[in-house]
Amino acid sequence: MALAFVNGRYLPQAQAWVHAEDRGFQFADGVYEVVALLDGHLMDFDAHMDRLARSLEALRLSWPMSRAALALVMRELIRRNGVTTGLIYLQITRGSAPRDFKFPAPSVRPTLVMTVRRVTRFGSPTHIAEGVPIITIPDIRWLRRDIKSVSLLPQVLGKQQAVEAGAFEAWMVDADGLVTEGCSSNAWIVSADGVLITRPTNHLILSGVTRGSLLQLAAEFGIATEIRPFSVAEAKAAPEAFLSSATTFALPVTRIDGQPVGTGRPGAITLRLRQAYLATVGGVRS
Ligand code: PDD
Repeated sequence: MALAFVNGRYLPQAQAWVHAEDRGFQFADGVYEVVALLDGHLMDFDAHMDRLARSLEALRLSWPMSRAALALVMRELIRRNGVTTGLIYLQITRGSAPRDFKFPAPSVRPTLVMTVRRVTRFGSPTHIAEGVPIITIPDIRWLRRDIKSVSLLPQVLGKQQAVEAGAFEAWMVDADGLVTEGCSSNAWIVSADGVLITRPTNHLILSGVTRGSLLQLAAEFGIATEIRPFSVAEAKAAPEAFLSSATTFALPVTRIDGQPVGTGRPGAITLRLRQAYLATVGGVRS
């Protein structure tokens, strides 16, 4: 039976409720993290906790418990669920109070919810071998995309549009035709001369933890990198493209809006980075 952690208690998920007036529910007044668990190892754990700290600070939310205690509870929930490979989801909201836009009284405690899901792989064998199709859509989001906010409606709509178009992900595009990021991933291309290109992190995209690790690996391999935005046209003409997230790691993108990327096969740099991420961050020996 799947167990969730809700405000201090480990509960069967079917009984794991939050209050009807929770501010996460009413205002999306909360933040979240998703961390991959691979063979018992929490991938990039410290970097996820660092980003959680930044998200909490941006919302002027306090930690529901100390960072060290939170790490312990996360591991305990994983243990109680008997999961060794999967995803842990953590959400913190400003708590429950009668609906009113301004912050509630300081006595209102944040809500903390955690769930664990078993997954067998981070990207299916077909997705890794063939790459995935993506579509491009306008980026209609707010301007604090650096906060890992639970306000994800544009991404929900975007992802649904992708699925209905037979695609795996939608890359969002700004008014200048530049790709910002995927609905739940960061976007990358490789240029004809083998330079890895991805957008700088600022308020316009989420600073992906996987992105950060992949950039470090690229530096270790001596892969030339340019941190700059790229256009949809540039991506369509690139020999290689991929996306990255905690749920997919580095995953090849082989079609954009129906057009093949390069030869239409996953690129060598993408697969090398994916392998290196598994080997170094995940400790998986290839
Ligand atoms: N999403 N950009 C956006 C908008 C995201 O939602 C995510 C992750 C990323 C990649 O970040 P990271 O490498 O830290 O996972 C980029 C998670 C997986 C989700 O919402 O399920």
